[in-house]
Amino acid sequence: MNPLVCLPGVFIRGIPHSMLAALWLPRGASSFSPQVQFLWDLFFGIAVFFTVLITVLTLYFAIHYRQRPGRREPDPAPNQNLPLEITWTVIPLIIVMVIFALGFKYYMNMNTPPAGAYNIAVHAQKWSWTFVYPNGAVTNKLYLPLNKPVKLSMTSRDVLHGFWIPQLSIQKDVVPGRVMTLWIKPTRAGRYMLQCAEYCGSGHSSMLAPVIVEPALEFNKSVAAAADIWSHNGKPVPMTEVGEKLYVTFGCEGCHTVNGSKGEGPTWKNLAGSKVTLAGGQVVTADYAYLKQAILYPGRKMVAGYPNIMPSHYSDLAGAAHPKERKLNALIWYMNTLSNRSGKATRPPVPDKPPN
Ligand code: CUA
Repeated sequence: MNPLVCLPGVFIRGIPHSMLAALWLPRGASSFSPQVQFLWDLFFGIAVFFTVLITVLTLYFAIHYRQRPGRREPDPAPNQNLPLEITWTVIPLIIVMVIFALGFKYYMNMNTPPAGAYNIAVHAQKWSWTFVYPNGAVTNKLYLPLNKPVKLSMTSRDVLHGFWIPQLSIQKDVVPGRVMTLWIKPTRAGRYMLQCAEYCGSGHSSMLAPVIVEPALEFNKSVAAAADIWSHNGKPVPMTEVGEKLYVTFGCEGCHTVNGSKGEGPTWKNLAGSKVTLAGGQVVTADYAYLKQAILYPGRKMVAGYPNIMPSHYSDLAGAAHPKERKLNALIWYMNTLSNRSGKATRPPVPDKPPN
């Protein structure tokens, strides 16, 4: 076979399929996807059409009207053609107005949640996402019911973030100081990925969250299970396991590692019970009282070498009463398991079992 005909085939076969797929929009999995896909195809088609048209005409004119022996001056040419000028003004105007009208219609649709939509609150913070469901469940994975409209009320606890799920064809900035709303109706079950789409600091690229679209029955089970962090299948969950779970759902893991490597904040490995040097040079022991204060009021006693960037909303955990203080204790118990210091943080003075 002609090698020139084979060449593109060799090239394309040599490229991994995932890379080729990256040239196109992901296969959409929400009710917005057909609209977004259609607009994209329209844009792309128009761009390809005019790129080809202009390139071909440029090449043709360059060759056809090139300077040749005996042709010193340009041929006389008209410098005014009213019908032509009207044509190339009106046609692009129609094209951009069609794009504008469709884009505006789709945009308004995306920003107008239908009545009766299921509500999920989305909190963005450096550098994690937290989702709160009507039953009080707090997760770091976004659970969505299949084929049901969901209204997302989104707030940022610090800087500008971007809520973006490419496969579900939605994106909206999460602006601090405002409640941004968006709605979505997933149409295909599966696991997707939420990414932050605005550069928000050194942890931006890891500000991700899994998105799980499930049929209503499984969705209800997942959200009900997430609401009960203290027991699993009727058995109580050990305090340290609850703490480990909270470490993830509260977003601690965005800044504090548990393996000793340096994060945006101090690592939790061997932290409990250790000697900590504060910004003022003072050395304190990371005991229960210190860790509790460091979670509730992170700005009060800063560890030397770390900026004062921890979100302050964990002070919500203050209030001494169940179940908030139990969550705080669970976190500190988890820190204890990560530490080999002999002193550790002393056992939280709150019972392990919830009061009935
Ligand atoms: Cu949050 Cu980038």
